[in-house]
Amino acid sequence: MVGRRDSHISFFRDAFLMHKTQLLARIHAHDAVVAIVGLGYVGLPLAMEFADAGFTVVGFDVSERVVSLLNAGGSHIQDIPAAMVAKHVASGRFVATTDATRMRDADAISIAVPTPLGKTRDPDMTYVHAATQAVVAQAHPGLLIVLESTTYPGTTREVLLPALESAGFTVGTDVFLAFSPERVDPGNPIYHTKNTPKVVGGVTPACTEVATALYGAVIDTVVPVSSTETAELVKLLENTFRSVNIGLVNEIAIVCDKLGVDVWEVIDAAATKPFGYMKFTPGPGIGGHCIPLDPHYLAWKMRTLNYKTRFIDLASEINSGMPDYVVEKVSRALNDVRKAVHGSRVLILGVAYKRDIHDMRESPALDIMRLLEQRGATVTFHDPHVATFREDGHEYHSVGLTPDALRTADAVVIVTDHTAFDWQFIVDHAELIIDTRNATGRTARSRARVVSLADSMAQRTRGTA
Ligand SMILES: NC(=O)c1ccc[n+]([C@@H]2O[C@H](COP(=O)([O-])OP(=O)(O)OC[C@H]3O[C@@H](n4cnc5c(N)ncnc54)[C@H](O)[C@@H]3O)[C@@H](O)[C@H]2O)c1
Repeated sequence: MVGRRDSHISFFRDAFLMHKTQLLARIHAHDAVVAIVGLGYVGLPLAMEFADAGFTVVGFDVSERVVSLLNAGGSHIQDIPAAMVAKHVASGRFVATTDATRMRDADAISIAVPTPLGKTRDPDMTYVHAATQAVVAQAHPGLLIVLESTTYPGTTREVLLPALESAGFTVGTDVFLAFSPERVDPGNPIYHTKNTPKVVGGVTPACTEVATALYGAVIDTVVPVSSTETAELVKLLENTFRSVNIGLVNEIAIVCDKLGVDVWEVIDAAATKPFGYMKFTPGPGIGGHCIPLDPHYLAWKMRTLNYKTRFIDLASEINSGMPDYVVEKVSRALNDVRKAVHGSRVLILGVAYKRDIHDMRESPALDIMRLLEQRGATVTFHDPHVATFREDGHEYHSVGLTPDALRTADAVVIVTDHTAFDWQFIVDHAELIIDTRNATGRTARSRARVVSLADSMAQRTRGTA
């Protein structure tokens, strides 16, 4: 005889199987409705990927400006052509909205909102909390929710899971919850959302299964892991790895400077080792929304567990000290030609945080410009990808890269080595160059005096200066 308890169990098992089976069927048929929360560098490419694969996509963003631009067929993300957005808007596969209730019909919701740091460099979870509230208010049985924002291990289980449970859902049974870190590399011509393997970890095995199916429908390789915490930590390991290795080569640059050795020659020679070495290059500091921020999410979490992440702290200290180091280089280089920073005209080449993109978030160029101005320099910039920007209430406009602009600058500082720059033209017309990227390394001899990031003792002086 089947007892009351047994019939309850079988009811819940059937309900669970029904939700999961129906959701999987809709995903496999590509007729699921996918909502993306946050249409920035991560969310918009993901939305386009789902629309390309035939899914109906609702993009929810709090920014009226972004939503209107996208619905008008425009794009604010460099890697996403406006024509792609326009095509999906016209076909009805993609719509952007500021109205959270439009997510009501979604079968799956991916959250890609910002995770910045607060003033004390602790995680600022405001956006994740707001997005969670908006999503939970629209949640219904059979829904899959995936957090994509980079965050500390435990976020999915400690923030999203309780919010869903408080709303009466049983995660793994009637709704599904997972974490899947985004690995987008803006400006990368080879790897983009579709061909970059995607890690997925669910709260329960069923959550992992459904989330793996969703991403498997649009991404070439999906890598399921055993928990949300694992998936969260994978992302932090990847970016901490970069931060620590960049910190190491930045320190090697300082070491080379003191030894009078050319750091670029050392690195290139080391990189000929076919195993056990991976090439990282020094520079003026780190920027972007990931490397300078993400490791602090892990450091913060570990502080709550009474553990100090020493590698993270040291790498951060060295990397964040690089703009000061560059400014010191500029100061010494000017001093060598009997000039002071105070009153000098300094032209910065490249203000985006890395090559061939326009993103200026956390760019070391901003620190370098501020520090030079604090020392009394008149600072201008040229960047083929950034026409204008505002910082500390001041508006900066990219100046033309003319022979005159180069010649009249007391110092030209190469901060970002965009492909569009003609380095020979630059060394042919500038007087003094501080090259933080070894961009001029392959140029022919010229009149410019070129100071490298790290060879002050054997200062590489080209030409007659
Ligand atoms: N940019 C990258 O290269 C990159 C790479 C990997 C991971 N990430 C991570 O992905 C997440 C998103 O980063 P991003 O670069 O796409 O940010 P972004 O600033 O480009 O875009 C975020 C978008 O979210 C919107 N938004 C903010 N609060 C919202 C809310 N409550 N509801 C709906 N929309 C909201 C903003 O208006 C903005 O359009 C972050 O956690 C980041 O660390 C970024």
